[in-house]
Amino acid sequence: MRLNSPKMNVIIKACMKAAKSLIRDFGEIENLQVSTKAPGDFVTSADKRTEKILIEELQKANADYGIVSEEAGLINKSNNKNKWIIDPIDGTMNFLNGVPQFAISIGYEEDQEIKCGVIFNPVTNEMFCAEKGNGAYLNNSRIRVSNKKKIIDSLLVTGGPKYASDIKEKIFSEYVEVSKNVSNVRKFGSAALDMAYVASGRFDGYWQRELNYWDIAAGIVIVKEAGGFVNFFDEDNKNPLKKNIIASNANIHEDLIGMISKKYIE
Ligand code: IPD
Ligand code: CA
Ligand code: CA
Repeated sequence: MRLNSPKMNVIIKACMKAAKSLIRDFGEIENLQVSTKAPGDFVTSADKRTEKILIEELQKANADYGIVSEEAGLINKSNNKNKWIIDPIDGTMNFLNGVPQFAISIGYEEDQEIKCGVIFNPVTNEMFCAEKGNGAYLNNSRIRVSNKKKIIDSLLVTGGPKYASDIKEKIFSEYVEVSKNVSNVRKFGSAALDMAYVASGRFDGYWQRELNYWDIAAGIVIVKEAGGFVNFFDEDNKNPLKKNIIASNANIHEDLIGMISKKYIE
């Protein structure tokens, strides 16, 4: 791994420790406790165990930092300057079904900007990481977004809608609109890995509504450091942790924005 600043070392160490327990849990899915947060939205004992290890490790390094974590919520709320943004398992539905498409995602935010992040799939052993100004990596190799020039030749990825979404029709109609104008669209079930795959050129672009900040925080810096563009649209000022995102290589970004919802982009 080429990135070895103190901050990256803290995140990677926490991630590797949590991954050991997560892999054990993945090998024994049938023994996990599962509860329902909302219709169609599950949380397992593995999400909570992984999160506990991550928080303990990150707090050992910086006890006073704010934390925004999916299951634990907000910790050290008064620290608005330095924050860890954590999704202990992004892709819980895949995890629960034995599908090895899930990841630990940790972003570090300073002064309202994500400065570095790690997305780690412990099954494939792929660690995507980036630090502002120092590039994006997959394990030891530098990564870049794809060089696809035309949107019609592009392979995109998306996700949603959630079971309980109030805007299913809008999401489906955007899916149809985009599908008519690109080579193909995939739906893999982990927003963090979707972003990481854009950063590494496996997908040319990604868009999705109704995300939470922790789904994509680490991905933001990884895509940008890989030379990609990230935009948010249709923002809900009352709920800044809710996000609608478009991330892609630079060549197709404008076209993708045009197809989704140009009027919403800042
Ligand atoms: C989910 C995944 C999925 C996306 C959902 C997210 P979770 O995160 O990122 O790809 O479509 O909107 O909630 O619940 O597995 O952490
Ligand atoms: Ca998530
Ligand atoms: Ca999660």
